[in-house]
Amino acid sequence: MESVLPHDVPTAPPGGVPAGLPDPATLTSLANAFFSALPGNAPQSGATPGLAGTLPFTAPATSEISNPAPAGSPLAGPGGTGTGVPGAALPQGHVPGANLLPSSPMHVLALGNRAPALAPHATAQNGLPDSVVTIAPALDPRFGGAALGVPEAHGAQRPSAGGAAPLAPAAPVSSASTSPFYFLGESGQPHSATTASPDIVVPVWSEVSAQSFGLPGVDQPLAEQRFPYDRPAAPHAAAPSKPAEHTGGSHYFLNLGEPSRSPGHAHGVPHAGPSAHPPFDVNAIRRDFPILQERVNGRQLVWFDNAATTQKPQAVIDRLAYFYAHENSNIHRAAHALAGRATDAYEAARSKVQRFIGAGSPEEIIFVRGTTEAINLIAKTWGVKHVGEGDEIIVSHLEHHANIVPWQQLAAQTGAKLRVIPVDDSGQVLLDEYRKLLNDRTKIVSVTQVSNALGTVVPVKEIVELAHRAGAKALVDGAQSVSHMRVDVQALDADFFVFSGHKVFGPTGIGVVYGKRAILEDMPPWQGGGNMIADVTFERTLFQPPPSRFEAGTGNIADAVGLGAAIDYVQRVGIENIARYEHDLLAYATSVLQPVPGVRLIGTARDKASVLSFVLEGYETEEVGQALNEEGIAVRSGHHCAQPILRRFGLEATVRPSLAFYNTCDEVDALVSVVRRLSSRR
Ligand code: ALA
Repeated sequence: MESVLPHDVPTAPPGGVPAGLPDPATLTSLANAFFSALPGNAPQSGATPGLAGTLPFTAPATSEISNPAPAGSPLAGPGGTGTGVPGAALPQGHVPGANLLPSSPMHVLALGNRAPALAPHATAQNGLPDSVVTIAPALDPRFGGAALGVPEAHGAQRPSAGGAAPLAPAAPVSSASTSPFYFLGESGQPHSATTASPDIVVPVWSEVSAQSFGLPGVDQPLAEQRFPYDRPAAPHAAAPSKPAEHTGGSHYFLNLGEPSRSPGHAHGVPHAGPSAHPPFDVNAIRRDFPILQERVNGRQLVWFDNAATTQKPQAVIDRLAYFYAHENSNIHRAAHALAGRATDAYEAARSKVQRFIGAGSPEEIIFVRGTTEAINLIAKTWGVKHVGEGDEIIVSHLEHHANIVPWQQLAAQTGAKLRVIPVDDSGQVLLDEYRKLLNDRTKIVSVTQVSNALGTVVPVKEIVELAHRAGAKALVDGAQSVSHMRVDVQALDADFFVFSGHKVFGPTGIGVVYGKRAILEDMPPWQGGGNMIADVTFERTLFQPPPSRFEAGTGNIADAVGLGAAIDYVQRVGIENIARYEHDLLAYATSVLQPVPGVRLIGTARDKASVLSFVLEGYETEEVGQALNEEGIAVRSGHHCAQPILRRFGLEATVRPSLAFYNTCDEVDALVSVVRRLSSRR
């Protein structure tokens, strides 16, 4: 078969005050004058030509504070994401990469309490030693500053037998109301994460230490060494303000009449009755994601590009830092203490993945770079062994290029054929058509569980079952599903299941292949090298059993460990809670976006997760994306690496907001207000 590939700031001095530097006050005022004169600090009200009006949340005078961080915050300069100069703005959008400046490595060390988080003479990004910078007046609390990460003084607020004061869901977060708890009980009593998921042992936030990660370290409780986090709540971070009727009175769920509950029921997103679940405290969630306080074009970031990648909770950032500060070593080979720690951490992550997706054993979990590499591994090992001339491979019309191209390549190499399950006008696969495609030449069926372009939740359980009846193997692409719904690979009976860590709040560069043990044992290795061998002579090589057989070379150890921390985080919140919250948020978003004149939603299947793909009459998708970006709202516009499905709808591109459980109705309103303004000017 013919294989058609888709188109798919000045350097800081090393420390100390440079010779001839003016006195600190003069320096500070010069710096202020310099930064405020940069184009990025023009009054933001004029920064959005053609987009009059204001967003439904209040921003501070951003020409005064852009990207500020509280004094002493790990996000402040020196070396952090702030400028290190009070009142001096990062000229975002005008200095490429300004928003990407690395944090001081000192922050890394803070976790283990091995070094002060801010060394007294660290050097700021602007080249100023912090001994100069820090004598200037302290910054005001960061706008939107719902506390970042760990609220202070948790111990004082933990529920006691007598009951702590109930947390008012929409109340501003202060040191008095900040809670480490994600949920409020029916009685108003906070539920600790551990009570929400009794089978999962998780660290209590105020006591993050080596032991929190299941390690035998001697670290001080994090609460004793971290910065105060009792910032005022972000207006933007407010919980959805819509009344909540159908969920039994939670302030965090929406009054949408009776939105369809079918996705969960049918395809693994169980929605328990309202009384069985405490409300979802999105404010508490948001405080765990420092990047949500970032400012873009003078606005607090709204991250609606979750289908492309998700943001990382502090727990993941801290876990990575902890690994590099205390455990870093190659694994398996060296018999020394750190090799043991690194190996333990890596293998613990494998076990976490196993439990997260319901696999039978850790040996069924192979670490790879991501979903793309995962599918390539399967196509180039299992596929090359089992697919021959005249055989057939089935994918659906919804697939990401990563679940098309490797199969095309395999077909071109072997003489096999690629068959495609069509979709209806809502973007749901046509099961009857699928049945017709199956025959005794079908060797593998490879389908996504959730479409990255349309958000369709695909009935993969039925698809796997039908594939098996035809004698074929089945691969489920979980890249877009694992962060949104409970996955149980044994219940699905999938032969392979693949996903990427970065789409489930973990690091980039780490992903997973799950394969049934017997199938993996029958698969030849893909890459050859160290780690995957049992014995090598010049005449022959004996290979390790899975999973090592498929992990040649030094793997992405730290990011596997980070993925484990992300999974812990998701488990702590509860995937069903996430699914339920997102379901209602998506229903709300659909209900407000769809009626905007000129909006055409692409993907209207009954069962959907996260994604709201649309086009706006009279505008290129890039123009809509740009207008949103000018308001600090990040969406992807383009073909989303899924050209066939967009062409099915006569399009080359869509605008694609994609939601996660840290998004809010207010953020949805901000997006829709931009679209409405554009619409009114067509
Ligand atoms: N697969 C990613 C997306 O859908 C990159 O945006």
